[in-house]
Amino acid sequence: MSFYSFLRSLLFLLDPEIAHRITINYLKMVRSKKPESYNVLRSNVFGLNFPNPVGIAAGFDKNAEVAENLINLGFGFSEVGTVTPSPQPGNPKPRIFRLKDDEAIINRLGFNNDGFDQVKTRLGKTNDSIVGVNIGANKDSKDFSEDYIKGIKFFSTLASYITINISSPNTPGLRKLEVLENLDVLLDKINNLHKEDLLIKIPILLKISPDLESDNLKYLCDKVLSSEIDGLIISNTTVARNSITSNLAQEGGLSGRPLFKSSTLQLRKVYKYTNGEIPLVGVGGIDSAEKAYEKIKNGASLVQLYTGLVYNGPKLIKNINKDLSILIEKDGYNNISEAIGVEVN
Ligand SMILES: Cc1cc2nc3c(=O)[nH]c(=O)nc-3n(C[C@H](O)[C@H](O)[C@H](O)COP(=O)(O)O)c2cc1C
Repeated sequence: MSFYSFLRSLLFLLDPEIAHRITINYLKMVRSKKPESYNVLRSNVFGLNFPNPVGIAAGFDKNAEVAENLINLGFGFSEVGTVTPSPQPGNPKPRIFRLKDDEAIINRLGFNNDGFDQVKTRLGKTNDSIVGVNIGANKDSKDFSEDYIKGIKFFSTLASYITINISSPNTPGLRKLEVLENLDVLLDKINNLHKEDLLIKIPILLKISPDLESDNLKYLCDKVLSSEIDGLIISNTTVARNSITSNLAQEGGLSGRPLFKSSTLQLRKVYKYTNGEIPLVGVGGIDSAEKAYEKIKNGASLVQLYTGLVYNGPKLIKNINKDLSILIEKDGYNNISEAIGVEVN
């Protein structure tokens, strides 16, 4: 039994939110030295130099407590949040469920977070690593799209990039922003922001759902191509309940292994619809170098993971980077950027 499987068996005796709090507090204390880096994994995406393509997905460090510590574990970048303008408590507990046999999680946290001000104070303390801020709308907001504009303005001088999260299934009405007129309104506001304020040069990414059907997805991709959006993150959790063996009736977003297939298919479609013209971040069910590589070959310039870390522990990050560098070289590429989208035709 590895050390992490022992630790995991203890952590899994606890309520998931308590286990997560212990993990965050532990991460705050440990001083790990940055692991080995691989030239083949270095790349420049939307103007930023990534030491490796594997990032920690949003939701793990919602309040920017351990962004730098996660990078020291071997992640190439951190994404903090989702953070909303005002602090909010989220949905009633219990709201996170482990599906051990499926290596999955269902969560319906509902953007519990400390709010813009607190997160900004903590972000001020990070070094020059790549730390993105994932922003959302308050549940009781009168105008969701205005909350995103506030967020872009608020974090534009501190974040390495900003993610507009319009795909959480746990804030009622939020996913409507991915569709038709609501999407138009949001993108127009972001475009105007660029026109008004030339200082806002920060990359803006849009995080989308694996459940958006093809016609709406195509519409979104067309719109994004003619907008000021610099990249897409594919995907958030799913409300579908295929391929899981328990908790079928539990409400919330499903992540982990069972999400791999649908999120990779969605990524592949987006790569096709956008003709590879915009960088994509592949997320959903990554728990090995092989799966990370599959995302890359299906169009991802970068990848992120969350649930895989819960089930496999921190060693996963170093292992993915090491094995990914081997896989890429074995295929005869000099750099990861040469492998992006090679399996999409
Ligand atoms: C407990 C939990 C909380 C999450 N919170 C957020 C969040 O606040 N914002 C967000 O954009 N995604 C959130 N996510 C989604 C992840 O960022 C990611 O898109 C999704 O889990 C798929 O990746 P994975 O299969 O590697 O976990 C959360 C996921 C989990 C498991």
